[in-house]
Amino acid sequence: MARMERYGQRLLSPAWGEEGERLAAMAEVSDPGTFALLERLGLDASWRCLEVGAGGGTVAAWLAGRAGHVTATDLDPRYLEGLESPNLAVLRHDAACDPLPEAAFDLVHARFVLEHLREREDVLDRMVSWLAPGGLLVVEAFARLPVPGQDPALRAAMDALMGTLARTIGTDTDWPWTFPAPLAARGLTGVGAEAHVPATGGRNASTRCWSLTLAQMRPRILELGLAAPEALDEALRALDDPAFSGFASATVSCWGRRPDAPA
Ligand SMILES: C[S@@+](CC[C@H](N)C(=O)[O-])C[C@H]1O[C@@H](n2cnc3c(N)ncnc32)[C@H](O)[C@@H]1O
Repeated sequence: MARMERYGQRLLSPAWGEEGERLAAMAEVSDPGTFALLERLGLDASWRCLEVGAGGGTVAAWLAGRAGHVTATDLDPRYLEGLESPNLAVLRHDAACDPLPEAAFDLVHARFVLEHLREREDVLDRMVSWLAPGGLLVVEAFARLPVPGQDPALRAAMDALMGTLARTIGTDTDWPWTFPAPLAARGLTGVGAEAHVPATGGRNASTRCWSLTLAQMRPRILELGLAAPEALDEALRALDDPAFSGFASATVSCWGRRPDAPA
């Protein structure tokens, strides 16, 4: 049986010429919210942190400046190569199958990773197992956003993009709307969730991120027939218009703590 396609093999490949720029734009949109959330949840200078699917490494670098130690992992760590800090280790690591020590981390964080993995429930189990007693799990994911009044060209393009990801690598952009139930189901305590909807417009970082993602995915979207070339062109033109303003997707974040070991 043919192996099922996974993140990065064809779609969202790290080898794509503009992938570094795409990851940087993604981080520019999302880092402020992630940093504020981690601070609110009590990030401490003593913590041993694990950043799963670290991408361009901005969260790992920020954590390294505030925590005790950071392990930054990625299936393909090429964009983490420039990260240098005495308390930061970079690891080529597949979150779905490669080992990590159990109960070793005070914080395990993943952003925009699990929604793309068919094995997301197993990976979540693994992430919980890597938490020390009392450790904090934070999962963030991008979620489908059909809202009344959403710009029709952007909505059609986002539907095609998310449909293509779902049909090829198994991305589930509805799963984040179930947060924080997946953490509560694993016995984590103090669970919570929130959603953030960044504006896409005025050629801001969100605009750049989605334009690049659409450009990368365009051949595949067309191959699957999920949008006409004219519709994608219209969305890309809209995104390139400095006067454009809209909403492309939401980021849903959830958190919870592994209970302390019974005394
Ligand atoms: C959309 S990017 C997000 C990057 C970063 N977390 C951020 O939010 O800026 C997804 C990242 O997850 C990595 N990734 C995908 N599948 C993975 C897996 N099975 N194990 C570890 N990393 C994975 C990709 O290589 C990529 O760097």
